[in-house]
Amino acid sequence: MTEPLLGLEDVVIATSSICYIDGDRGILRYRGYEINELAEKSTYEETAYLLIYGQLPNAAQLSAFQADLSKNRSLPQDFIKILQSIPKKTEPMAWLRTCVSALASFDAESEDNSEPANLRKTIRLTAQLAMIAAGIDRTRKNQSLLAPDASLDHAGNFLYMLTGKKPDELSRRAMDMALILQADHELNASTFAARVTTSTLSDMYSAVTSAIGTLKGPLHGGANQRVMEMLEKIGTPDKAEPFLREQLAAKKKVMGFGHRVYTTIDPRAAVLKQKSKELSQKVGPPKWYAMSEIIENIMINEKKINPNLDFYSATVFRYLGIDTDLYPVIFAISRIVGWCTHIMEQYRNNRLIRPLSQYTGPQNLRYEPIAARQQAAAR
Ligand code: CMC
Repeated sequence: MTEPLLGLEDVVIATSSICYIDGDRGILRYRGYEINELAEKSTYEETAYLLIYGQLPNAAQLSAFQADLSKNRSLPQDFIKILQSIPKKTEPMAWLRTCVSALASFDAESEDNSEPANLRKTIRLTAQLAMIAAGIDRTRKNQSLLAPDASLDHAGNFLYMLTGKKPDELSRRAMDMALILQADHELNASTFAARVTTSTLSDMYSAVTSAIGTLKGPLHGGANQRVMEMLEKIGTPDKAEPFLREQLAAKKKVMGFGHRVYTTIDPRAAVLKQKSKELSQKVGPPKWYAMSEIIENIMINEKKINPNLDFYSATVFRYLGIDTDLYPVIFAISRIVGWCTHIMEQYRNNRLIRPLSQYTGPQNLRYEPIAARQQAAAR
């Protein structure tokens, strides 16, 4: 029997009208729109609307959607008690996973898998995940949770909820852009996990909980955190090259590089690279961006491996003053809209996702009673 290609590489498991990737040409489109154009001209709210409803909103639709998000931001008081009772040393993605699972108990529609209920849950989850993320960070720093500011957009409100300070325009826009770029990415591992859970006709909260657990891994959404930890370890630009050469000589993977689908530059990384450069000059310190550029050049020239989304989102988040271990959580508060959109698409055209494995273990063994097995082992 031929060796199967592991990891579902190149396997199509669904049809979808949400997200298009041409990995050889570095193209990514949400609902037909180029990611670069959305990142430059759109907002997270507009992009979220586009993903959920399939088209860009008109002015009235956008303001209704913004109002809907704003109305759904507050978290139930008893839920806040649960969030605040999690041990403070808990890893933030594990904390988020527990919170989303618990939040289901406060949603009267959690077991209703109809499309209208799922649409309402999508809005609630998109609004509330950002609140939970900020709540986790504030709780572990012994700070109280803040009430949302209705005058701020999704990105601005998140930064305000996190820090207690209204962000300047440069920071708000950088966060908005990062949220747009991370909002969806076809059948990445966490979205696939969400669709697998959905395909059993389980509920949206269960599917999102599966997705969070999957995003958490260092090969997926946990990579941005590992990129920053690597830069912190390197410390200064003059040490970047020797560090990298040591990594490569030891055949260690460099976090933030490589991709299953892109054989050329990840278009999201290109956009975030520019943002990181701008922030390095206007906010500083410039060393984080400088180190990143050195690493990128060596990886491209010598390994022909390009940076992915997580490589430059790491320094963007650093310039925004966000704690390193919170980076995957920021990914989740953006990707929630992609997950929910895929969950709804899966329900609409569902078939149980159940692949095969190629068995390589022993065959035709005979069962022996335990006493006989012990005697055989003693011989
Ligand atoms: N550093 C060094 N070598 C690498 C890297 C890397 N980051 N990525 C791939 N390679 C090499 C790998 O060693 C292998 O070489 P060889 O064929 O000689 O053994 C070859 O490239 C193929 O790698 P692979 O791991 O088999 O490829 P994959 O498609 O299974 O994995 C990946 C894709 C993203 C898991 C992988 O590139 C990786 O581990 N990257 C580092 C983690 C990371 O940045 N993840 C974020 C992914 S993008 C955003 C997201 O989804 O969150």
